[in-house]
Amino acid sequence: MQHVLFVCLGNICRSPMAEAIFNDLVEKRQLTDKFTAISVATSPEEEGNHPHPGALKTMRAHGLDASQHRSRPITAADFEWADTIITMDHSNVANLQRMAPSAADRDKVKLCLDILPGREGDAIDDPWYTHKFELTYQELAAALPAWLDALNQ
Ligand code: 4NP
Repeated sequence: MQHVLFVCLGNICRSPMAEAIFNDLVEKRQLTDKFTAISVATSPEEEGNHPHPGALKTMRAHGLDASQHRSRPITAADFEWADTIITMDHSNVANLQRMAPSAADRDKVKLCLDILPGREGDAIDDPWYTHKFELTYQELAAALPAWLDALNQ
């Protein structure tokens, strides 16, 4: 089983959206025996909170339900559990590289849009600030099938 960990700052917008989109893809491709994804925060700020209403509304518009999710901060056990850690922006990468218990864990940390030709180095901007939840969805929906293809080699 490959374990994919999605991480953003608050774990109420981007990473729970990524988790729901990725796990839906895994189900649709009948790969549930090979892949599983969860999501966590770099910050404890939103711990226990459900996804942002804008994230829930956007996910519902695309037929996905992320309402059961609750935010929690990353732990050392999450670094250990993960095979791949997919993050949304450069501050997520920097925070995780600082927090990683080992060099091997640091090497797991990837920037989500790096998988898309022409989008390398781009951030998925925080919709908590931009309110562009649909743009977040579209960026994730473009990148995550490419991640699943790349990891399913
Ligand atoms: P996320 O969005 O990292 O995509 O979940 C944010 C949610 C909450 C905060 C920042 C970003 N916050 O500062 O509380």
